[in-house]
Amino acid sequence: MDRLTVFSGNANPELAKNISGYLGVELGDSIVSKFSDGEISVKIEHNVRGNDIFVIQPICFPSNDNLMELLILIDALKRASAGRITAVIPYFGYARQDRKDQPRVPITAKLVANLITVSGADRVLTMDLHAGQIQGFFDIPLDHLLAVKIFVEHIKKRIDCSNLVVVSPDVGGIKMARAYAKKLGVPLAIVDKRRISTEKTEAMNILGEVKGKDVCIVDDIIATAGSLVEAIEALKNKGAKDVYAAISHPVLSGPAIDRLQKSSISKLFVADAIPLSQDKLIDKIEVLSVAPLLGEAIKRIHKEVSISVLFG
Ligand code: R5P
Repeated sequence: MDRLTVFSGNANPELAKNISGYLGVELGDSIVSKFSDGEISVKIEHNVRGNDIFVIQPICFPSNDNLMELLILIDALKRASAGRITAVIPYFGYARQDRKDQPRVPITAKLVANLITVSGADRVLTMDLHAGQIQGFFDIPLDHLLAVKIFVEHIKKRIDCSNLVVVSPDVGGIKMARAYAKKLGVPLAIVDKRRISTEKTEAMNILGEVKGKDVCIVDDIIATAGSLVEAIEALKNKGAKDVYAAISHPVLSGPAIDRLQKSSISKLFVADAIPLSQDKLIDKIEVLSVAPLLGEAIKRIHKEVSISVLFG
């Protein structure tokens, strides 16, 4: 493949800059702005014919604008005769709408996958998908990275793990939690939410021993922080001591920051796939960079060598 070139929309320019820094290339020159009516305008400012192009754009808030920027950037690059285009989507928004869990609802994650493919992407690079099966929504090659290694290395430095238990906040997160527990060499516990009756809401059971233990809750997304705060309460009621959390994607919407501030969490570790505005950078949050992981994957995809060493 010809020259490696990295472009970015407005979703996370800082991450794009750090990835370019890791790769030792300059960020491609483009203008991604808006017309006065809100439509997105894109202009690629230099020749990209034959280039191997990576477009860095998480689908985070404002999700619809960021998704449209990604699609339009890919379209512009395709029409400028790019050699190959990889959509680098460190946070795949709309991923939680991945199945019909009630009648007459869409599968928006599949629609987004279709849009990305139709826009002209040749491949996709993403990280910590809400559900691994979303890979199958694409009929183009997709590489799915896991940030667990980065989180585990950081946790080992920041926490005394001798009394630690890893906790999955729901049954769906067991696979991810098991990977953390294995790498940290600590036991696993699970928060098991049960509906008592149609009128009564949920009972929280804890599967596994947490009494007198420090706990680290692991998850893919923190949005309103509802799931996290519920899990913290249930764990505290069962006698857990210090509570930490490692959550890849800090969506942090609505009441999330307020809930975190009021909660008894000691530290929340998140990745920089989604940028955090100043008002969200509270003391309890520590941000870990996934730029080297994404940069190394891009380097290997460009050189057409295996990237499986980066999985997990
Ligand atoms: C659920 O399946 C996800 O893994 C997250 O636990 C959930 O989406 C987080 O959302 P919230 O913070 O709004 O509870």
